[in-house]
Order: sequence, then C-alpha cells, then structure tokens
Amino acid sequence: MKFFVDTADIDAIRDLSELGIVDGVTTNPSLIMKSGRDIKEVTKEICDLVDGPVSAETIALDAEGMVAEGRELAKIADNIAIKVPLTWEGLKACKTLTGEGRMVNVTLCFSANQALLAAKAGATFISPFIGRLDDLNLDGMDLIAEIRQIYDNYGFETEILAASIRSVNHMKQAALIGADVATAPPGVIKSMASHVMTDKGLDAFLKDWEKTGQKIL
Ligand code: E4P
Repeated sequence: MKFFVDTADIDAIRDLSELGIVDGVTTNPSLIMKSGRDIKEVTKEICDLVDGPVSAETIALDAEGMVAEGRELAKIADNIAIKVPLTWEGLKACKTLTGEGRMVNVTLCFSANQALLAAKAGATFISPFIGRLDDLNLDGMDLIAEIRQIYDNYGFETEILAASIRSVNHMKQAALIGADVATAPPGVIKSMASHVMTDKGLDAFLKDWEKTGQKIL
C-alpha cells in the first residue's frame, strides 16, 4: 500500500520524507487554509520535495471551470494530480483532464456507485472518505471493501485512495482490504510506529543495561 500524506505542512512532509515512506501528498482547500500559504507557492514546494503525485483541488462547480483550474494547477509541476469533486460536473472534468493525459483524483466519494462512475470516467485515483462515514455511525471500511470488489470484478485500473483516515486502525484495515493508497495526517502515520509494549520493553532493557555499567561507544 502506498502512503500519501494528507497535509500542506512542509515541515511535516519533510520529516516523513526522510524515512523514504512518502509516496505522494494530498491537499484540499481546508488544508491550504490551515497552512496559511498561497496554494501555488506551497504546492510547488511540496512537488519539489516529493516525487509522487501531489493532489491539488479545484474550486469551480462546473466542468468547464474545473478543467480550466485543473490545467492551471497542473502548470505547477509534472507530478500534480488534479482533484475534482465527485459530482456529475466533476466526472465530466475528470474525463476531459484524464483524456489530456493528466492525473485526476476524484474526491469526496461516499458510495460504491460514485466510485464505479469515477472509474468509468477514467479517474487515476478515487478517494472514499472513511472517517466522515464513521462520523455518521456508518463503517467507512465497508465502502473500501465494496469498491475493491467492484474494481477487481472488472479490472478497473483506478487506484483506491483511502482518505479521511483518522486512526492507525484505519491504516491497518485499509491495507488488509487492499486499498492501493492510504492518505493520512502525519500524526497518524507516525503513530503507526508506537506500541505500549515497545516502550515498556525498551525501558526494561535500558534499566538492566545501566546495571551492567558497560558502554557500546
Ligand atoms: C483527502 O484527500 C482528504 O483531503 C482528506 O483525507 C479529508 O480528511 P478529513 O475528513 O479528516 O478532513
């Protein structure tokens, strides 16, 4: 499973990049707002830092506007994936932009039928929002499983990008189901390294080591 980082925070992306685990980045208007930066400036910096796809989202509601904005965003760098919403107009924009050879991430997906349409429209990525479905007392992971089955049934090449991930458990479940990509906030990715028994075991080893009076260096 590929790891995308769901942030427009350059320092956080750099921190994770050092471990070589960042396969791409996703941003959205809320994350750009949170960064306090200009969308083109910050997205360019991210693209310089990360080789993989960097999603930048359009704002227009009509297909023509999305296509125009998408073409403008794509000028930032070769690794831009244009993000369009899963509306009828978004699907039309997806068809046009992928027809021009551009990467398109169809976002705000909340049903398997929406995902089926996105694949038919040639989407590079489909972004089902797990956490926001969980917020409605539904199981977001059921949606990932349904889309996996449908895409596999017909050999669609659209990559399932599990989004709106809120916990390490979401990461594990997405990997078990076979999502192609998971995008998560930096904190969730870093938390995957933590386990209370690791901390406890390390503490005990260090206490015993101190008693030996030895040094390695
Ligand atoms: C991904 O592309 C989305 O921008 C993101 O995962 C949304 O997450 P949220 O529901 O936590 O805002």
